[in-house]
Amino acid sequence: MKSITVLGSTGSIGTQTLNIVRAYRSEFKVEALAAAKNVEKIEAQAREFLPQVVCLYDEEKASELRVRLRDLPIRVLCGMDGLISCAQLSQTQLVVTAMVGMIGLRPTIAAIEAGKDIALANKETLVTAGHLIMPLIREKKVALLPVDSEHSAIFQSLQGLPYDGAVSEGNAQIARILLTASGGPFRGKTKAQMRGITPADALRHPNWAMGKKITIDSSTMVNKGLEMMEARWLFGLKPEQVTVLIHPQSILHSAVEFVDGAVVGQMGVPSMELPIQYAMFYPKRMPMQAHKLDLFQIGTLQFEKPDFENFPALSLAYEVMKQGGSLPTVYNAANEWAVSQFLKGELDFLGIAGNIQKAVEKHKNISNPSLAEILNAEKETYELLEGSSR
Ligand SMILES: NC(=O)c1ccc[n+]([C@@H]2O[C@H](COP(=O)([O-])OP(=O)(O)OC[C@H]3O[C@@H](n4cnc5c(N)ncnc54)[C@H](OP(=O)(O)O)[C@@H]3O)[C@@H](O)[C@H]2O)c1
Repeated sequence: MKSITVLGSTGSIGTQTLNIVRAYRSEFKVEALAAAKNVEKIEAQAREFLPQVVCLYDEEKASELRVRLRDLPIRVLCGMDGLISCAQLSQTQLVVTAMVGMIGLRPTIAAIEAGKDIALANKETLVTAGHLIMPLIREKKVALLPVDSEHSAIFQSLQGLPYDGAVSEGNAQIARILLTASGGPFRGKTKAQMRGITPADALRHPNWAMGKKITIDSSTMVNKGLEMMEARWLFGLKPEQVTVLIHPQSILHSAVEFVDGAVVGQMGVPSMELPIQYAMFYPKRMPMQAHKLDLFQIGTLQFEKPDFENFPALSLAYEVMKQGGSLPTVYNAANEWAVSQFLKGELDFLGIAGNIQKAVEKHKNISNPSLAEILNAEKETYELLEGSSR
């Protein structure tokens, strides 16, 4: 039986992780659950899975939860200290990091330091601190298992290559990776046609049901930009070995082109449960009843080049990935700020890429930033954009 902590248990990835636990009750023991403020959902999860500890980041909501759960022997924690305690719980073997945003960084580092294996959904961790995380993974001899479907597909395509926690030891045999992208709801549109787009339009993803933030990121192609930076660290690649391939059907979840010309990829229906389950059971494959792929029914798969002209956040991501340092943090933080403004109706759709560009241009890049410098770059980016929006 594997003991797990789920950080971000109430979100899209978190609830799908718990679906897998529900399907394989005898394989997993849930030790800790954490979220931001969703009291009702985490209470229901706590009653069902009976963890030792639950945490809500929001202090007031955590107090409310403590009252609601007083009939059960469950400790209720709050804040960053609470998240870190959940991540480092002595019984936990695997931490699923399914929180959205840079808030995931410190608990993930804490979990690795405590020797936990990581099922990584929180892409912001590698985007902003890949240069700190990857050496730590090797030092602590823990496994970093990708949950993002594209990274899981690449990871699955690399099975058989040397694995040292992450997979970068075998990368001399990789010519490049082909990171697939559906192109989102606005594929084929020009900037002029995207001018009046509302949050409701952008939240209508053609293939994937996901949390709000990542759905907006898919519509701007920022999500693919972040995934390129995540992949680069996870698989120990040079920026020029990362290629984005538009594939509107989202059936091929990504592929690896090897030095001998072989292209190996993983296909499946667009569902996150397969990559989550693969990470949770790695290296074993387990049956999954739903989500069977029927290629006879699908018939045709299309592949295209990305449209850098109309999706400028993607070309900017290439530049940011090449320069590295603290710039990926600025790219990510500016996007987090801009997406929240867009969702509140205070910024237009094209303003998301515009604000990322502005923040990246203004930033004085720091190479090999420390954790403190990363968190400071995030704070300064928020201050810059808040200031200029007034
Ligand atoms: N959804 C997908 O299909 C998918 C695919 C690949 C990668 N990812 C990545 O996985 C991560 C999660 O995405 P998602 O779509 O599952 O997001 P989501 O549905 O918005 O859920 C986010 C989760 O994070 C929690 N959270 C937010 N702020 C927190 C804080 N300060 N402290 C503790 N918990 C906090 C939320 O708690 P509350 O509910 O209480 O707010 C919720 O449980 C992201 O990094 C995303 O890029 C997602």
